[in-house]
Amino acid sequence: MNFRHMIGRWINPLLPPGSGTHGHELLASLLVMAWIVEARDPYTGGHLWRVSRYAELLAEKVGWSNADVARVTIGGFLHDLGKIGISDAILRKPGPLDSDELDVIRTHPDIGGRLLAVHPLAALVRPAVESHHERPDGRGYPHGLPGKEIPADARIVAICDAFDAMTSTRPYRVGMPIKAALDIIAGRLGTQFDANLGGHFIELAAGGLLEHIVGHSDDAIPLQACVTCGPTLVLTWASAPGNLVHCRSCGGEYRVTASPDGMLGVEATGRRGNARALEPAADVALIARIVQAAVTRAPLSAMFERAHEESYA
Ligand SMILES: [Fe+2]
Repeated sequence: MNFRHMIGRWINPLLPPGSGTHGHELLASLLVMAWIVEARDPYTGGHLWRVSRYAELLAEKVGWSNADVARVTIGGFLHDLGKIGISDAILRKPGPLDSDELDVIRTHPDIGGRLLAVHPLAALVRPAVESHHERPDGRGYPHGLPGKEIPADARIVAICDAFDAMTSTRPYRVGMPIKAALDIIAGRLGTQFDANLGGHFIELAAGGLLEHIVGHSDDAIPLQACVTCGPTLVLTWASAPGNLVHCRSCGGEYRVTASPDGMLGVEATGRRGNARALEPAADVALIARIVQAAVTRAPLSAMFERAHEESYA
């Protein structure tokens, strides 16, 4: 089934008669672009989904309206769109970046903003895309915006993005336990992270409410580990026993297995995937679900209403 048809099938029944589907197709196309960025880095499988889910739960916890929750859910998914303009040598470097490389990485919020420039839905996600590396103490980038001058959507995404980076495994370090990541956030409230939103995030995580997201790439789908590279294998809701999946780092081939209680796992076949098998592919069914969940919460027009406001949280 082609993607446009699939999105239409999910979305059309939810729309008021005569409203058309164009906006939702545009939204889905943005999410696919963001996904392809993620797919270039084998160690970021599920990052966008997790940041989006954390952002949704945090915005709900602090009492945002349905429209505002829906918008930050989408912003969370799109925040790293600008990494499309960063070279693989830097994006996939298996170690910490030097200062010249950091300068390059720091261009991604602006690149994302320029990519959005003429997009009809730009206003919806611009705050998350352009400002998710700003810090309340004014030491963030690209503009050094202080405190509440940072859009609220970006202040939420910044916390969720940092938490996910800390709790995810990278080629040169294992992801830290949730508690250790929360301690770091607690120590940087008011400097790196919005104090109020960060406090709520810590409460959320300390209550065990994020454990089903950490280390997962979709609801009920934990990341699976390649024997040589670590947790790089991304299964989807469509994965079934016998399917083949491939490590996006080494290309190693794995067969999907199921335990007697139905939990999916993987076993190495000892082969490598061919070029076709290793092509990055977006999980369009997951993207369609995100779009569906967002527009079920609120119509796109309502999501635009407070996209420009900064101080509602
Ligand atoms: Fe980023």
